[in-house]
Amino acid sequence: MKVEIVVLAAGKGSRMKSKLPKVLHRLAGKALAEHVVDTVEGLGEIHLVVGHGAQQVRDHFDQRHVGFVTQTEQLGTGHAVAQAMPNIDPEAVVLICYGDVPGVRRETYEGLVAIAEHGDVGLLTIRLNDPTGYGRIIRDDRGNVVGIVEQKEATIEELSIDEVNTGLMAVQAKYLNEWLPKLSAANSKGEYYLTDIISMAAQTGVKVTAMMGRDGNEVAGINNKEQLADMERAWQLREAKRLMQQGATVIDPSRVDIRGTLKIGQDVFIDANILFEGLVVIGDDVQIAPGCVIRNSVIGNGVIIKPNSVIDGATIGDDAAIGPFARIRPDSVIAPDAQVGNFVEIKNTTLGRASKANHLSYLGDADIGQGVNIGAGSITCNYDGANKHQSVIGDNVFVGSNSTLIAPIEVSAGAFIGAGSTLSKAVAGDALTLSRAKAKTITDWQSPLVRNKD
Ligand code: UD1
Ligand code: CA
Repeated sequence: MKVEIVVLAAGKGSRMKSKLPKVLHRLAGKALAEHVVDTVEGLGEIHLVVGHGAQQVRDHFDQRHVGFVTQTEQLGTGHAVAQAMPNIDPEAVVLICYGDVPGVRRETYEGLVAIAEHGDVGLLTIRLNDPTGYGRIIRDDRGNVVGIVEQKEATIEELSIDEVNTGLMAVQAKYLNEWLPKLSAANSKGEYYLTDIISMAAQTGVKVTAMMGRDGNEVAGINNKEQLADMERAWQLREAKRLMQQGATVIDPSRVDIRGTLKIGQDVFIDANILFEGLVVIGDDVQIAPGCVIRNSVIGNGVIIKPNSVIDGATIGDDAAIGPFARIRPDSVIAPDAQVGNFVEIKNTTLGRASKANHLSYLGDADIGQGVNIGAGSITCNYDGANKHQSVIGDNVFVGSNSTLIAPIEVSAGAFIGAGSTLSKAVAGDALTLSRAKAKTITDWQSPLVRNKD
């Protein structure tokens, strides 16, 4: 059967105490509702119900294949789903997800859909030690689910029920079209409760099949910053364990953060306080020292990344060495066996095989050949205040310390540049080039220090 997915994301999330709509707060670097959209993507057409901060939520998802439904007034979960129904095929199965419940696995959603395809109402429940705040699941003597009672409506007896509604369900659209218009807001919150359709199902002889979740973390919702932080930690710990299962050595699983996707080879060593963001692919035998940030990069085999290095949007070749305190910015390629050392910043630059820039350099918009040595303090002046220009440095060039290469400039292979040179014209290959003011010594000179003593 065709599947359509309704993601509820219109609530205000007042307990987040934030200007940002709740579903845009980030877990593992990704908006809460985006976790849901990513998980259900491909199962069916997605309808996002937006309300509070609707424009921000729409903007966030404007590159995604999702439809939007605006719920102008937040009159309850039943009302929210009803807003989406005009866009939904009446023959479809509808999967209802919450934008603030980010951890649900795809298999769980698929299980609910399968139940609804079979003709029942699929409902995800869980037993909680502390069910406070949740809707309680009411079963008859034979164990059939016959209703959900919200916390505020529950009797003392019902409050002691520990099986609760996670909020997630799958129902055929034809049933929703029949039941949703019958919902009433005559309850203590004055809202149209989606949960009331469960007793309607039972009364009309439609079976409600509950799937009991095993893991409280999977179905936990985020209502405040503390729950967000708790879920972040639990999430990161799971990621760290996954790395270890793949053979990585993780010095402290509570001090690694993965905000995106990390793929690793064999025998990767991850020291303390490392942050991975976006898509990062790491080869075999890579060592990452404390305090590094690695974002959207590909790291070859045998690379050593020394402390406090930041690598962003770069490709690092096999056996290269980076850091400590190196910053490699987007569109940079560090070839195999190259070395980038202390306080070196590299942007949109290719550093050729076995070339070295070991101390205090800025290399931007440069194409640097093999076996090049960039001396301490040397920089490419790539920016003239209006435009960026390219520097081309051939193989086996030696750039003496504290040299300034004013781009656009080409330095031919084998050139040897004397320390302290400022160069703005093409530099000949296999020759010594230097620009340096002659040193002079003045002997009949009175030191200010001596004069002050007079
Ligand atoms: C809901 C369930 C409760 C369940 C709990 C699980 C109802 C009536 N109750 O209660 O049984 O145990 O979730 O977390 O369904 N939303 C809208 N528009 C609205 C109202 C809500 O889009 O008008 C969205 C919210 O943004 C949120 C979700 O629906 O993503 C749940 O709403 P919330 O108000 O948090 O419901 P609960 O009271 O937690
Ligand atoms: Ca909630």
